[in-house]
Amino acid sequence: MNIEPLWEIRLRTPRVELRLPTADELEALYDVAAAGIHPPEEMPFGVAWTDDLRHDAFVQFHQDAWRDWSPTKWDCRFVTFLDGEVIGMQDVGAEAFAERREVGTGSWLGQDFQGRGYGTEQRAAVLEFAFRVLGARVAISGALIHNVPSQRISEKLGYRVTGMGELSPRGEPIPHYEYRIEHTQWNCPIAVEIEGVEPALPLFGAA
Ligand SMILES: CC(C)(COP(=O)(O)OP(=O)(O)OC[C@H]1O[C@@H](n2cnc3c(N)ncnc32)[C@H](O)[C@@H]1OP(=O)(O)O)[C@@H](O)C(=O)NCCC(=O)NCCS
Repeated sequence: MNIEPLWEIRLRTPRVELRLPTADELEALYDVAAAGIHPPEEMPFGVAWTDDLRHDAFVQFHQDAWRDWSPTKWDCRFVTFLDGEVIGMQDVGAEAFAERREVGTGSWLGQDFQGRGYGTEQRAAVLEFAFRVLGARVAISGALIHNVPSQRISEKLGYRVTGMGELSPRGEPIPHYEYRIEHTQWNCPIAVEIEGVEPALPLFGAA
């Protein structure tokens, strides 16, 4: 399958741009991750991948998303740029999108770039992409109980808590909030410009 059209997609918020990375930009993303995403004592992720961050596995993880891409199961791992500099990533993914019209998201920013609203902008960008361009009906997200910034972003953007589960990134079970927002509840708080999507739409099962 030719997935090259994915690299033409651009999501622009007032301050950041999201797009798929070149090989060099993926290296830059690794460098941002290696410089630190969270304090060692706080694990924000459901899978504790930052406890064992390895260059080759990190690059492979991103390349796998491209190798395994299918219109019935995809994960679009956008890299986030601030003035041309890589600052983190924001993904949006789905299974059986054509039937279910549901997407899930995940994200991180380098520690130096957190707490300045970029996380809100990048999540809003992929929600606009999912709801306005792909025709999603629902978006879901999740956050561990101590991950207040992630919860706050979900709440600010209009998600509601639909349940509570448990994840054990470091062995001990930790409560995990499940969030959901419907297209009809979505009201984008910022301007998001979206470009280059038309040729890629069949790749999302959205044409
Ligand atoms: C989660 C993450 C992507 C959020 O991005 P960010 O740019 O830091 O977040 P923002 O600045 O856009 O917004 C964070 C919101 O949480 C609030 N917040 C942050 N820490 C808080 C705290 N301890 N208590 C209350 N509110 C807090 C901020 O005030 C802001 O809300 P506001 O706009 O109403 O003021 C980023 O912090 C990150 O990468 N964290 C580590 C990895 C991670 O947690 N990934 C997500 C896993 S689910």
